[in-house]
Amino acid sequence: MTSVTAFAPATVSNVACGFDVLGFPLQAPGDEVTATFGADGVRIADILNDGGRLPRDASRNTAGVAVQALLSRLGERRGMTLTIRKGLPLSSGLGGSAASAAAAVVAVNALVGAHAALDVLVEAALEGERLGAGSAHADNIAPCLCGGLVLVRRASPPDIIRLPVPDGLTAVVVHPNLEIETAKARELLGDTVSLRDAVRQWANLGTFVDGLHRGDFAQIARSLEDTIAEPRRAPLVPGLAQIKGAAADAGALGCSLSGSGPSLFALCQTPTVARVVAEAMTTAVKTHIGGDPRVYVSPIAAQGAHVTSSCGS
Ligand code: HSE
Repeated sequence: MTSVTAFAPATVSNVACGFDVLGFPLQAPGDEVTATFGADGVRIADILNDGGRLPRDASRNTAGVAVQALLSRLGERRGMTLTIRKGLPLSSGLGGSAASAAAAVVAVNALVGAHAALDVLVEAALEGERLGAGSAHADNIAPCLCGGLVLVRRASPPDIIRLPVPDGLTAVVVHPNLEIETAKARELLGDTVSLRDAVRQWANLGTFVDGLHRGDFAQIARSLEDTIAEPRRAPLVPGLAQIKGAAADAGALGCSLSGSGPSLFALCQTPTVARVVAEAMTTAVKTHIGGDPRVYVSPIAAQGAHVTSSCGS
């Protein structure tokens, strides 16, 4: 093999009640990375569709750092050249840096024929996240690589639990025309939370997990509340309360920021409800933020990052 291309999907992290521990992928959009053998070390040949904004220096690029970490773990000495095609908007709250890192490690793993375990890929991709977000949280990386709705009990060494997804559960994501840098959004959180907020968050998280196991949509709806991150980040997204209200009125089980925002997600009981919710949220985003938001309606994707093509002998 001389060249491998992998796709990695957008991810919704936090999922309201699981700050830094819950996430799921959409089917699309996503980033693509092509890996080929190159001279020593890791080199970025090109990045498409980023408006020239992402670092071309591999040691400052999330995909480059992730691949370097993977090669070190594998003891692989051959050099790698990466071409990154951004399908995800930058600083959108859709796990863009995680997607580039995940696609890169999946492509390189296949190119060198390493068959590395998922945990090895997660740990390598996390190094990219540490660079991009200033913190090695795995709630985008883990679902991006593993697929499904996942709970990260621990990022490193990874302890990742795949949760059941009740039939019909459908995600809506609306991306307003804003950018929020995760590192800055994390600074807003500070280092402490009140005991009252913490108790409420872990009560919601347990309730959510149980609701998924029993397919109890009413219970899932009750648990989709964020007492930790969303209250502190709300000022970054104008009209957040009204957009959430529009989603609820249209029948969503719950709605919150996707990751550190500005994208918002809603979970819905059926694809039909999701389409109605998507329209209501889009109208509300246009009213309160303006611009032309991008909208995605998707099941929780069961498949994470994967090889899409390979060529060569
Ligand atoms: N859990 C992370 C956060 C996701 O909310 O900061 C963004 O990368």
